[in-house]
Amino acid sequence: MPYAHITGWGMAVPEKILTNDDLSKMVETNDQWIRERTGIRERRIAKDGETTSSLGVEAALKALTVANLRPTDLDLIICSTSTPDYIFPATACLIQDQIGATKAGAFDLLAACSGFIYATNMAAQAIRSGSIKNALVIGAETLSRFVNWKDRNTCILFGDGAGAFVLQASEKPGGVHSAVMHSDGSGGDLLAIPGGGSAIPASEATVHAGRHYIEMDGKEVFRFATRVMTQATLEALDAAGMTIEDVHWIVPHQANIRIIEAAARGLKQPMDKFIVNLDRYGNTSTASIPIAVVEAVEKGQLKSGDKFVMVGFGAGLTWGALAAEWTGPLPSKGQVRPSQYRALGRIRSFVRRVIRFIEGIIFRREL
Ligand SMILES: CC(C)(COP(=O)(O)OP(=O)(O)OC[C@H]1O[C@@H](n2cnc3c(N)ncnc32)[C@H](O)[C@@H]1OP(=O)(O)O)[C@@H](O)C(=O)NCCC(=O)NCCS
Repeated sequence: MPYAHITGWGMAVPEKILTNDDLSKMVETNDQWIRERTGIRERRIAKDGETTSSLGVEAALKALTVANLRPTDLDLIICSTSTPDYIFPATACLIQDQIGATKAGAFDLLAACSGFIYATNMAAQAIRSGSIKNALVIGAETLSRFVNWKDRNTCILFGDGAGAFVLQASEKPGGVHSAVMHSDGSGGDLLAIPGGGSAIPASEATVHAGRHYIEMDGKEVFRFATRVMTQATLEALDAAGMTIEDVHWIVPHQANIRIIEAAARGLKQPMDKFIVNLDRYGNTSTASIPIAVVEAVEKGQLKSGDKFVMVGFGAGLTWGALAAEWTGPLPSKGQVRPSQYRALGRIRSFVRRVIRFIEGIIFRREL
């Protein structure tokens, strides 16, 4: 059975920074309150025209560059997101088109902030089953488009960004060892965007009532999060035949420093074993774990051969953890510059549209 190695990684965040002081001019809050209750100092906000797919494309191309893999070599693209460009088509398909991954199947996965763990696990399982060789997993969000900027309970928490992994089959032992995925839909109302779906279709009244914004019971979500982080981490390690002492790094979902501190206490591990960057990005939902991993690699913290756990929780309710060994980049097989494929992908996409248009005329004539 092949192993599923993480051979490429990349991240993308918008340039625009929104500080706590900026927020204090928008709602009744202040820097001290936000820092003490959450650990967040600033977050990134997408500018006009920047979308979940455009951030996802940037992260994906960086990950492909590290893996030295052509987009045309990809068999599968999974985009984990709760803030897609559209209800449909899938954001994964928009990314597939823009990077020119012409041979890949593509779909979105919605497991909120646990989504990147679910998606990485799904891709690793597909590789380990032998059905595919190369997968791209993306976690991307533009939460700023769904935040009520008048609600101080939620608007201080979230930010935008994307992270991506390339996973590849190899006979060499290592890579993703195990994962656990959990859910409890009875808590679905604790964190939700109620409007705009088939239950509460978009109308003037629903928009007026703000049902298309994130609604959250912060205290309940906090309680749930502190309970499941420890449990999921230990379960994933147990399934991998590892103990917490074997692990070099824990990469938690970056929601609140107090939740991460509670997990550290629950696991009886020092805080310096946890990768934390929420002070600079806030909660970027499904993108938070891959962004933290990419930064840890770039800082030289997470190194080849290190064992690590990614653990998260989120709306749904969902939670999960994944235990893996960091592979690092494979020896270079020659320079692949995926950005060239982006340009080629654009041309190919245009040509396909023209061909579809001409085929449409011919089809109508034949009828
Ligand atoms: C949202 C959260 C930071 C609130 O922190 P908290 O310690 O629970 O704070 P509370 O909700 O008890 O609020 C305490 C007081 O601060 C006030 N407050 C709330 N938001 C505030 C803000 N941004 N600035 C200043 N005061 C604020 C409340 O109104 C409340 O005032 P009151 O005592 O007069 O009623 C915290 O509950 C949390 O992080 N929950 C998890 C949320 C999460 O991670 N969601 C995403 C999951 S993926």
